[in-house]
Amino acid sequence: MSPSRAGSRRSDIPPLSAERVLVVDDDEFILRALERVLVQAGFDTRVYTSPEEALSRLDVDRPTVIISDYMMPGMDGIAFLKNVRTRLPAAARILCTAAEDFKVALNAVNTGEVYRIIAKPWHQQELIAAVAQAAEATRLRRENERLTTEVQRNNERLRESNLRLEENVRERTQALLEGLIAALDYRDAETQWHSRRVSLYAKRLAQQLGVDGEELQTIEHGALLHDIGKIGVRDRVLLKPGPLDASEWTEMKRHPELGWALLQRVEYLRPASLVVLQHQEKWDGTGYPFGLRGDAIGIGARVFHVVDALDAITSDRPYRKARGYPEAHAEIVRCRGAQFDPKVVDAFLEIASDEWDRIRLDVETVAVLSADLAERPPGLPVGAVHPLAQA
Ligand SMILES: [Fe+2]
Repeated sequence: MSPSRAGSRRSDIPPLSAERVLVVDDDEFILRALERVLVQAGFDTRVYTSPEEALSRLDVDRPTVIISDYMMPGMDGIAFLKNVRTRLPAAARILCTAAEDFKVALNAVNTGEVYRIIAKPWHQQELIAAVAQAAEATRLRRENERLTTEVQRNNERLRESNLRLEENVRERTQALLEGLIAALDYRDAETQWHSRRVSLYAKRLAQQLGVDGEELQTIEHGALLHDIGKIGVRDRVLLKPGPLDASEWTEMKRHPELGWALLQRVEYLRPASLVVLQHQEKWDGTGYPFGLRGDAIGIGARVFHVVDALDAITSDRPYRKARGYPEAHAEIVRCRGAQFDPKVVDAFLEIASDEWDRIRLDVETVAVLSADLAERPPGLPVGAVHPLAQA
């Protein structure tokens, strides 16, 4: 039997839904009766006497609601609706069954094959209401799925834009760090590249201690900026060639707190401020500004302390030449448990000396390259000495 399209709608019955309904019943008399009711109610109705034929038309009809008889030759209504569920899961399935088959039909509802049951003989208003409800439920489910997909898509977009934003912040922060360090370098040329070396040393040593992720970056930034507070120390103290008197020392010793205060203003750098504040504290409590002892000093500052000694010993100073790694090694071991956290010293000793050499060489290479690549100020005559080269 070929499908019959919904006919003209009766003007006295307003259409409940323009959605399509598919009906299967092997009893043609019942089928026509159902069709009449549904068409009058405004549904776009397709009817079939055989479940096989209905299944073959499923992809073409794509109904929103499917009504099936239970007892049919060849395939019963539950088997048919089960098949429909696989092929067209979004459609609402209604089983139209005689009272004696109710128990089996109820079971079909419970296992999810059927959306609801309509008893035969049906009550016209109940039938229309049930189909309208099923169509509405399907529409709502589809709308829900659409909205969920939209929300997921928006979330994905948001995530991507957050990632871009984070990347942006990272890049700007890096530039800010470079600027801060350069500002300090201009004033205190003696420590030039020292900050960069100790930050990479500290990163390597922290890794050896099992630190990773954001905490590792915090230690790296903290070590890089450890002396940033010296920006607030007056030239005649910071650059004084001879030994400092008591009041000058008091001023100099404020630089960890000044650095800490400076970094409070940059949210992204705030975690690193603790390393800056504590970078002069010593394991045995003889450091400053607070004389903290042992684990009261954060791991970042304890790591920094060891690599700061390594760099100080292996770098030239105006009053002495650089000494070799064996001397640094011996000094660090000597101060294990005094100035330095024994655990950190042990981790330091696990790292081969050529790793430190390689880091030093990398920093020196960058130093040479950045001097070469430094931007020339506008108007600088050709052949004139670059201001950075004079520093
Ligand atoms: Fe310092």
